[in-house]
Formats: sequence, C-alpha cells, structure tokens
Amino acid sequence: MEVNWNMDAAMKNGFPHFMLKEIHEQPEALRNTILPRLSKGLPDFTDDQIPDDVFTSCSQIHIVACGTAMHAGMAARSMMEPLLRIPVTVSVASEFRYEEPLIGEDTLVIIISQSGETIDTLAAMRLAKNYGAAALSVVNVKGSTIARESDYTLYTHAGPEIAVASTKAYSVQLAALYMIGCRMALVRGKYSVPQATEFMKKLLNAIPAMEAMIAQKDSIKALVTHLINKSDAFFIGRGLDYAFSLEGALKLKEISYIHAEAYAAGELKHGTIALITEEVPVIAIATQEKVFAKTISNIREVKARGAFVILITKEDAVLDRGVADIHIRIPKIGDRFTVFPIAVVLQLIAYYASTGKNLDVDQPRNLAKSVTVE
Ligand code: G6P
Repeated sequence: MEVNWNMDAAMKNGFPHFMLKEIHEQPEALRNTILPRLSKGLPDFTDDQIPDDVFTSCSQIHIVACGTAMHAGMAARSMMEPLLRIPVTVSVASEFRYEEPLIGEDTLVIIISQSGETIDTLAAMRLAKNYGAAALSVVNVKGSTIARESDYTLYTHAGPEIAVASTKAYSVQLAALYMIGCRMALVRGKYSVPQATEFMKKLLNAIPAMEAMIAQKDSIKALVTHLINKSDAFFIGRGLDYAFSLEGALKLKEISYIHAEAYAAGELKHGTIALITEEVPVIAIATQEKVFAKTISNIREVKARGAFVILITKEDAVLDRGVADIHIRIPKIGDRFTVFPIAVVLQLIAYYASTGKNLDVDQPRNLAKSVTVE
C-alpha cells in the first residue's frame, strides 16, 4: 500500500498557503492571548508575573521593534499616549541601538518581537537595560532570547507562524499591547473599573469583527484585480488609521512586490500628491471619528487627480456619491479597536495581490522570517 502523506499540505490544513491559514487563525489566536488574562473582565498579568509597579513606576514608555512588530508598536502608541497622558515613543530597533536614547530608570521599554530572536531588537533591549530601563517583552516564541533576557515577558499565543509575512502575530501583539494599555490606565488612575471593563469588552468585540472580514474574503479578492497590474499604490489615513496604513503598505510590498507607501493623509499635499495619477490606486482608511471628515477631504484631493480609490470605513459611515470607487465596510466597533478588522482586510488585499500575480506568498524573495544576523 502506498500512502501519500504530504507534511506541508497537512500542516496547511486545507488552505493553499500558510499565510491564508494564519489569517484565518487570528480570531482564535486573539482569544488565546486575551481570555486567560481576564479576571472579572479586567486585564490581569499575575500569571505572567508582571507586577503593577512596572506600570505605575514609569513616567514614559519607549517601544522598540522591527518590521511588522514595529507597526504594532506604532498603533499601540497612538492608542496609549492619549489614554495614559505620558510620552510614548516608538523606535526602529536598528536605529535605537546606535543612539543615545533619553531613557533611564523612569522608562518602561516595551520590546515587541514575534520570534524573540531579531538581532537588532535584542541589541536594542540590551542597550535599554544598560540605561536602567525596565524591559517588558511581548514575544510569541517561548523561551526565545528576548523573552529570557527581558525583565518581564508577556507571551502572545499566536501559535507557530510559518509564512514570512506576519499576520496573526501582529494581531496578537496588538491585543497584548492594548491589554497593557488598559491595565496601565487602571492602575495609574486614568480608568475606573467600569471604564477598564468597557475597554476590554470592546477589545473582545473586535474578534467577531475580524471574523466578519474573513468571511468577506471573496469580495476582497475581487477588488484586488484593480491592483495587480499596477506598479505603485498609496495607503493613507490619519491618527490610528495612519498606523494601520503603514502595515498595509508593508504587507503589499513584501508579498506582491507592488511598490506601496503609507502617508499621513494630511501630509500628501506637501509633495507626494504629485505622484498620484490614474495609474496609482489609493487605499484610504477612515475609521477614526475625530478625523473622518478631514480624511474624506484628502480622498477628494486624490480622486480629483484621477486616483482609483479603495476606501475602508465603518459600516455606518455616511458618504457622498463618488467619493470612492470601492467601499469596504468594517463592522461598527470602538474607534480604537478598528485595527483588528482592518488588519484582516489589508492582509487579504496583499495576499490576493500576491496570488493574483502567481508569486510565492509564503516565501517572498529576499526576506527571512527572522533576521538574526546583522
Ligand atoms: C523580519 C520579518 C518580518 C518581521 C520582522 C521582525 O523582517 O520578515 O515579518 O516583522 O522580521 O521580526 P520579529 O520576529 O522580531 O517580530
């Protein structure tokens, strides 16, 4: 008897690529990361051995990471700083490690790394510790070097991520960072217990919102036909939507090789708008109530230059006719939490752009899952 047993196919669990499988695993990964740390509806890091004085003793936060993990840090910064009212800075680890950072014993340095082995991130953490900062790592791989050397570790529970382009690791990093933000707000007196409970409810509501966007994958696949023959694309947004745009552009570049740039929507007119033509699609994200009208007026500017606009908003957004060529609606959830369904949309856009061009989705050229050499 001959048994055809293909390990690779078995591990993909019926999906054509690891990336698509991992996109689908996100709701479960979020539950695995959040639920064990909920106590009476509040974030609780007792089992992670992270005492609250880590959160109360600092007067600033410095987030350090590379690639997608750094983008999770950018989104966390935009969420945390207004909530905590302390400075929250994000640095690219490969720059930070050669700087003379203004950090010390008053600083909580949050290190984000899926692998826990990225050499620049590790070196940055060692530097931060030399400056006397407390190092809290958000890491996926158990027992990795960054997890072992940091003072405190909050493990994400994404499970193994095989595709080079990070998907589920990004979402769970965000979930962990949002829980840190919530716990800090609570123990620093910025949130009452009901406010923190409400925050966590909204975070949990992001999970069905992600599932809703995964269920829309066929319509996202259809719209990607407008992208695959293009050589450039822009992602625009303001505030948190800008942080999400950075990750959307990176994902598209990594696996479809379409040159993509993320721009703070209000900054476009200071030069970059010169590059907008009918050949340059613009993916605009407008989920933040405070800056919604401003982003829409930036979209009108690019539309007036002929751009093909794919707009992502919440489902209840009211739009004038003709503002966008394609309108993707995400479920109505709290502004801070839109990153979760948005991440799914941006990942699927990149995924289908890559498969539409018959590229190697899981192993894009020149990229490594973990960069452990300089
Ligand atoms: C590489 C990967 C990226 C990842 C980055 C940081 O560049 O291709 O997907 O975001 O490393 O990796 P880490 O393991 O530290 O999160």
